[in-house]
Formats: sequence, C-alpha cells, structure tokens
Amino acid sequence: MTHTPTIPTSLEWHEDHLLILNQQKLPNTVEYLTLTNITDYYNAIVSLKVRGAPAIGITAAYGLAHAASHYETDNLTEFTHLFRRDKDYLADSRPTAVNLVWALNRLEQVLAHAQSVNEAKTNLLHSAIQIHTEDEEVCRMIGEYALDVLDDKRRIMTICNAGSIATSKYGTALAPFHLGRERGIGFQVFACETRPVLQGARLTAWELQQSGVDVTLITDSMAAHTIKEKGVEAVIVGADRISANGDTANKIGTSMLAILCHHYHIPFYVAAPSSTFDLSSRTGDDIPIEERGPDEITTMGGTMIAPEHVHVYNPAFDVTSHELISGIITEKGVLYPHFQESIQQTINLA
Ligand code: MRU
Repeated sequence: MTHTPTIPTSLEWHEDHLLILNQQKLPNTVEYLTLTNITDYYNAIVSLKVRGAPAIGITAAYGLAHAASHYETDNLTEFTHLFRRDKDYLADSRPTAVNLVWALNRLEQVLAHAQSVNEAKTNLLHSAIQIHTEDEEVCRMIGEYALDVLDDKRRIMTICNAGSIATSKYGTALAPFHLGRERGIGFQVFACETRPVLQGARLTAWELQQSGVDVTLITDSMAAHTIKEKGVEAVIVGADRISANGDTANKIGTSMLAILCHHYHIPFYVAAPSSTFDLSSRTGDDIPIEERGPDEITTMGGTMIAPEHVHVYNPAFDVTSHELISGIITEKGVLYPHFQESIQQTINLA
C-alpha cells in the first residue's frame, strides 16, 4: 500500500471545543483529545500533550477566549476581573515559551477595546482564531526564507520538534523540509532524539516520515560524530524565547549543537516567528528556564532506569549565546549579527 505524504497538524477549533493531537501518545497512537474547560487547557499544556512555543500560545488563546465565553455576567468590569484571573492561571502553565504570554496579552488588548460583554466574547474568540490562522502563514514564510538561507545545503541536523505539530502548520525549523518535499527538494534530516522526553524520536521522526521527508534518527550523544562522519552542512532549530541581544532559549541540548557547529565551521540557524522575541529580556540571563520533574529522567516507558532517590537536575531548555548563531530566520526576513541592531530594526517595527 502506498502512503500519501501529509503534513500532520495538531490543533482544530470546532465552535465549542479545541481538538488537540495528544503528543504524549505519539508515535504509537494517534489520539485526539477534546478540550472544553480551562483546566483541560492548562493540563494539556503542563503535561506536554500540546507543546512547542507557537502551539502553546494558540492553545492558551483558545483556552482563555473559550473560558471567557462562559462568564455569566453582563458587567464588563466583572468580566475583566474573571478574564485576568484566568489569564494568570494559563500564563503559569509553562514559563519559558514567551508565545504563551504574547498570545494572552494580545487577547487582553482586544478586551480593552470592547464596549460590552457580548462584544468582548465575540472579539476574543475571533482573535484566538486569527492567532491560529496567522501562524500558518508565518510558518510558511519562515520556510521560504529558510529554503533561501540553506541554499544548496541538503544534510541538515535538528533537535526537539519545531515542526508542524508544534505550530499551526509547517513548523519553524522543519518548515523548509516540508516545503522542500512539496517542491521536489530532497533534504536528508538528522534528528537528535532529544532526551529526556524524546520529542526528536517520538515527534520529529514521526512528523517527517508522515510528510515523506528523509529522516535519520540519532541519539543526542551522536551529534558530533554524525556531523563529522555524515558531512552535516548546517543545524537548524526552533526557539522558545529570544532576548533583545539574540541569545536564544530552546530545548535542552540546543546550545551543545551550536558549540559543535562553531567547532566544525558549519552554520547554526534559529527559526522562529516574531512572537518568540522578548525584547524585555536584555540577554539570555533574563530568560526563565523551566525545570521539570525527576521522573522524566529516572523512568522510561514507566520503568525505572536510575536508582530510587537519586538527585536529578532536569532543565527543559538551555540558552544559546548570540555569538554562536549564524542567522535568525523569521517571517519578516533573516536577521544576521549584530543581532541587537537587526532585532531592533526588524522585530520592533511590528
Ligand atoms: O518542551 P517543548 O517540547 O515544548 O519544547 C519545544 C521546543 O523547544 C521547540 O524547539 C520550540 O518550542 C519551538 S516550536 C516551533
């Protein structure tokens, strides 16, 4: 039986609920979950059933607009009070991906312009849908710029999953591979498995296979050897938060790849929408790094793989210094060093 390549997506709005692809069950089970109340949305984000910076932002926007649509008051002040309570609750779900707060703030601005509760309810939902649909075009543009930047390079390494299922469609770091496949440009993608929760093995390998892209899975510790032995020509990764000087937080292990690129003299690219920039963080030192529970490291598939009570350190992200980044690929174009200036000029203009 032949498999028709399809770019998988993870989020579908259905009038009174959000349908999400349960990313915790991939690749063995393709299961969809229905989110109907604000606790569902919060738990889905915390438990990584939905993950990836843009997808987290889109989900939170739907969660807040959806919750607000059920507030039983005609009083705009009381409505705003309930809205702020729920906004703070969702904003607390994951600390590093700034797209979460970016999306919630965008909704708050919409509420600020509403003249009545009914108008607020309609416009908030409309805004969440807009955040979702805009993201697809943003990712497609990132893919177009990334194809230009990668030029004739075909052997590319990535980490984590900055793909279609981490966004509305196409992804950021994986967008050039999806677009390339549609245009007959064949990339050979090396996906780092991405310990501890294996977004590379479970998600990127699955997503690229579904989409018909040539993908080779390696463990994170094989990155240096693979770059050297397989002639990897560039590394491209996503981002969770980019500070004003270009320092970039992304999945743990990313900065290690940037250091390897420097050693092997190959370019290291970050691909991210402008909603991932946080100009209030001056440098990477201002970026909050999420620490997750020890079970992600001490167990695998429910089985203990470390002695009980061992001390565990589990930061989910690391910060890559701007000095190691060759270019930041956004929907507005490609930013090059000096990032302080190129970010000010391009991102600040929004
Ligand atoms: O913990 P996760 O799976 O949410 O981490 C995701 C990443 O680090 C991605 O690279 C990033 O969010 C960009 S997704 C387009």
